[in-house]
Amino acid sequence: MSHQDISSRFCHYIYDLARDRPGRNEICRQHGFQRVLVIQNLEDADRIMRRNVDNYPKNSRWISQVAGNSRLTEEGGQWKFRQNLSQPFFSKYDASRAFSVSMTHGRHMAEHLLREPDAQVLDEALVHQGMLSIFTQMFLEVELSHLPMAHDSASRLIELASSYAFVPPGQESLKDSKERIREILQLRKTIFNALQCLRGDAFAHSPMLNAMLEAESAPGFDFTFEKELTTLFDAGSDTASYSIGWALHLLAENPDLQEHLHAAMREVHALHGHDPQALESAIAQHADLRCFISELLRLYPPLPFITRLARDADQLSDMNVEPGDVVVVSLVGVNHKALGRADPWKPDLRAARREGFGMGTGTISGFVWGRRVCGGRSFALVELAAVLGVLILRLKVEVSRQEPVVYEWVGQMRRKGGHLLKFMPRP
Ligand code: HEM
Repeated sequence: MSHQDISSRFCHYIYDLARDRPGRNEICRQHGFQRVLVIQNLEDADRIMRRNVDNYPKNSRWISQVAGNSRLTEEGGQWKFRQNLSQPFFSKYDASRAFSVSMTHGRHMAEHLLREPDAQVLDEALVHQGMLSIFTQMFLEVELSHLPMAHDSASRLIELASSYAFVPPGQESLKDSKERIREILQLRKTIFNALQCLRGDAFAHSPMLNAMLEAESAPGFDFTFEKELTTLFDAGSDTASYSIGWALHLLAENPDLQEHLHAAMREVHALHGHDPQALESAIAQHADLRCFISELLRLYPPLPFITRLARDADQLSDMNVEPGDVVVVSLVGVNHKALGRADPWKPDLRAARREGFGMGTGTISGFVWGRRVCGGRSFALVELAAVLGVLILRLKVEVSRQEPVVYEWVGQMRRKGGHLLKFMPRP
């Protein structure tokens, strides 16, 4: 079995565990020896992510060895240094611009999806292109089409890297096909070369890009902006793209819910369509849309689990942690509020509204919490609301062929074979 298969099966295991043993942690073994603690208890997850975070550094060598060091992979001072280069921009973005750029790309996606009425599978490349365009416009102030590389290059690099995620520590560079390594090296070169064009004077430098270029001369940090941007492309757009795919799946599987949200979006547009500011507030704060996004991130978090490595021994509610243990927090299993429902596996906006948006709900768990909380959480919630608002307004989505969902883990969770969906225009 390939390492990719092992990690994809792990996604199924995460769901089985949440179903069969809700709230309970489990110990399994990787490669017959390495202890892997799978955490579903919310208090324990909070200890790992927040209260005893220093004991649980990220387990992300699989990313850094392929794409280089970045804020996604580093710890301590190296992480803080990198975090300071992008976080001010991810936190203090112009919300109105974020909304209008996202709406524009949402409309573009809707138009293109409708151009292929016979398609039976969601064109995920189109969605990825749209979400990455939002990212480059917002934070680099550059049109994606001006970057001389295939728009899925960074996603593909992380996908290739992800096959090392479950390889025993210390053996990451061994036993792999020359073919894969050749592809990785070639792709990395293509991406880094393409990004280099941002260094020149052909483009005005965005404030974030400027901060990164200046940081390259700081001694002791070995910082290069190409490495940082490659992983930020993945963090800032693949997650959001897969979320859009899963959202469309969820809408198609739940036609009543889809009709309800469509009627709500129609009403919002009828009331505020002529006033961009009012439209923005109405969509961003729409209670049912917010609940839908929370349910989406609870049922299909694009990162369904995150992994850490235990530094020292520790005590969790029902198990001892030993130094060197791999600690996996299940972002599906920690949503303890919904797991108490009669049927937690169906989206339920009313229940989601009752449960709120705090700890143990999709709006928090999907992005994790504590020190390593998603840097783009607030931005992601705006762009998801804007893009989904448009898609729900303009499209009717249906299942094209009923088949069981098979998960595939490519550094993120996607549906193997793609989402079996077809699209129709709304009158
Ligand atoms: C639906 C969309 C998104 C989801 C579900 C999501 C989820 C996550 C999760 C779970 C992590 C933590 C990974 C770990 O600790 O192992 C993370 C980290 C991160 N995300 Fe997101 N993310 C999304 C969108 C975004 C966007 C739009 C941006 C940027 C604009 C972004 C930037 C980041 C960054 C920079 C980190 C690393 C934080 C650090 O450790 O310094 N994310 N994200």
